[in-house]
Amino acid sequence: MSDLYARDSAAIAGLQKLRFFPQAVVGGKGATLEADDGRSLIDLSGAWGAASLGYGHPALVAAVTAAIANPAGASVLSSANGPALALAERLLKVFPSDQPQKVWLGHSGSDANEAAIRAARRATGRSGIIGFAGAYHGCTIGTMAVSGHPTLASDKAADLIQLPYPGASAEGPDADSILELLMQRLREVGPETIAACIFEPILADGGLIVPPAGFLAKLDAICRAHGILMICDEVKVGLARTGRLNAYEHEGFRPDMLILGKGLGGGLPLSAVIGPDWVMDCATAFAMQTLHGNPVCAAAGLAVLATIDAESLSTEATRKGDLLKAGLLELASRHPSMAEVRGRGLAIGVEIKGAETPLESDATATAGLMFHAHSMGLVAYCVGPNSNVLELTPPLTITEDEIAQALKLLDAALTDLEAGRIDGKASADFAGW
Ligand SMILES: Cc1ncc(COP(=O)(O)O)c(C=O)c1O
Repeated sequence: MSDLYARDSAAIAGLQKLRFFPQAVVGGKGATLEADDGRSLIDLSGAWGAASLGYGHPALVAAVTAAIANPAGASVLSSANGPALALAERLLKVFPSDQPQKVWLGHSGSDANEAAIRAARRATGRSGIIGFAGAYHGCTIGTMAVSGHPTLASDKAADLIQLPYPGASAEGPDADSILELLMQRLREVGPETIAACIFEPILADGGLIVPPAGFLAKLDAICRAHGILMICDEVKVGLARTGRLNAYEHEGFRPDMLILGKGLGGGLPLSAVIGPDWVMDCATAFAMQTLHGNPVCAAAGLAVLATIDAESLSTEATRKGDLLKAGLLELASRHPSMAEVRGRGLAIGVEIKGAETPLESDATATAGLMFHAHSMGLVAYCVGPNSNVLELTPPLTITEDEIAQALKLLDAALTDLEAGRIDGKASADFAGW
């Protein structure tokens, strides 16, 4: 074991850590990370979905190498640059419209959602926002104010209408009751005060919840009737992960604005907002950071989009997602601690039930399972308000072999969890969410 983790503990701020076990990596290939002790780790998280093409994909390596060797400046703020422009033109095709649209380029899901919300408010002259309990839209003051994830329990926007996400809790209201609640709140505040509704097409950090069929289309119809912009946050589940290029395509409607991040850069900092030009051009020098539209990151984004096409990664996400889900369901038939397997394509949630293990609490059992699985060679992180849902968002390029190995490791880790062979104390030092 190298001293990487100890040095990290001494030098890297706790402020940006979300740790579940003592992971230290020195490289990666495909869906496999190389740990500092030489072990191979199958990464079922895919760096929280950012490693869309896996680690070290040749197309990404070639594109980034060429772009950094002859960089077209550093941003789009005060100059056009070729890669950023090509990426924007490509993204307009990812989210086509018969109305004029434009693209904003950023570094992260947080800055993209922040820009979209601020622009929606500025363009409409309205300030209210509709959001959802459990939703994670970013870690900036503006995005935290409209998010509903418990980790972001900061001050909420004064004019936020926060709705329950349907299916997020067994006791919660159903989809129609939530829409009724929205209508009631709109009557109270006046729909003409609401700029936008920001939503995740799958509630990811809130527990990997797929909404009931028809809910988002009905929500869209209500918002559309009142001129409320629908902002679809596909930062985690967009760009082929669910088996369609855009996750909203499963739902039979088209939002007004699409937010992309994480997998768009394939591991480099890159995000995008695509929306109507009357929103995207509502001001200048308004939502900018020095390196926005960075040509090296843009080249990475172009390589990701080209590879999604060249390797049919939407179809592959369905096929491999079905394979992984079938394997997980087989495990669930033998492991009572697996309460549910859900999701779409390669965005899968596995809910863990602590009561079926000697560790008893859902969160403690999940923490112990993640820690133990990592020690065996498997990386999976948890989400959900109770920190008891394994979120599996592996690289879209994961191989069938890696899926089979991952299932074997998870099977063994679950067996140890249920047999009381996992010490809950080992994971207690890791704060998680
Ligand atoms: C749906 C969603 N939106 C936005 C974000 C924020 O993205 P970032 O961490 O890149 O700022 C996340 C991060 O997990 C996310 O899952």
